[in-house]
Amino acid sequence: MKNIVVFTGAGISAESGLSTFRDSNGLWKKYKIEDVATFGAFIKNPRLVLNFYNLRRKQLLKVEPNIAHISLNELQYKFNLTIVTQNIDDLHERSGTKNVIHLHGKLTESKSIIDNKIYDIVGGELNVGDYCKKGGQLRPNVVWFGEAVPNMDLAIEVVRKASILIIIGTSLQVYPAATIIDYAINAERIILVDTNPSIYKGIEVFKGKATEIIPDLVRGLLS
Ligand code: OAD
Repeated sequence: MKNIVVFTGAGISAESGLSTFRDSNGLWKKYKIEDVATFGAFIKNPRLVLNFYNLRRKQLLKVEPNIAHISLNELQYKFNLTIVTQNIDDLHERSGTKNVIHLHGKLTESKSIIDNKIYDIVGGELNVGDYCKKGGQLRPNVVWFGEAVPNMDLAIEVVRKASILIIIGTSLQVYPAATIIDYAINAERIILVDTNPSIYKGIEVFKGKATEIIPDLVRGLLS
């Protein structure tokens, strides 16, 4: 079986109703990264940071995977499919994808600041005073700016073996995640699907909405 890797960003979840980061109505237009998405911000104002992620989690509970998430799963029958996502939502998993690597963590998990142990978040909220068993404050298990990306090596390994790399809905502006494309050294095809594609050179570009393009693209790959 051929290996297909799909690399996704916020654009694939946009039509489910989750905001992207850098589009005109994106999250980084409303919030400053340095206020809500760094460890320093968490130390300075933990309430503000936890509330930001509590809001994201609340919103996530209200939305569903869309046809782009769902139709990618058909690839699982004919190919070894791995989804490498920058998204902290769980819409790939909820759509039925078995093999998902999260580069930037998961909104549904917390992590102790003393030993980095990971827990599921029960009840949807994380607040100041929510401690692990050892007494360490819990923070969201997301990768903040300036932090290492623990799954990067794993993602590189699968991308190296990919025959086809499909990139969906990402501005490719955040590093090291954006370097993923450089590791697709064995790929016969590199495909980018985006409403506002950031690169064109040497790859196949489909300009448009993920929900409109992915079902046909998947059908083509299966035929
Ligand atoms: P961005 O907001 O930077 O980019 C979203 C991309 O999706 C853009 O290229 C849009 O053109 C495209 N897009 C929007 N709607 C779309 C649709 N319906 N169909 C297809 N494409 C669409 O989001 P990311 O690239 O995912 O990290 O951002 C990367 C990282 O930056 C995030 O994981 C997050 C953020 O800061 C951290 O917080 C560490």
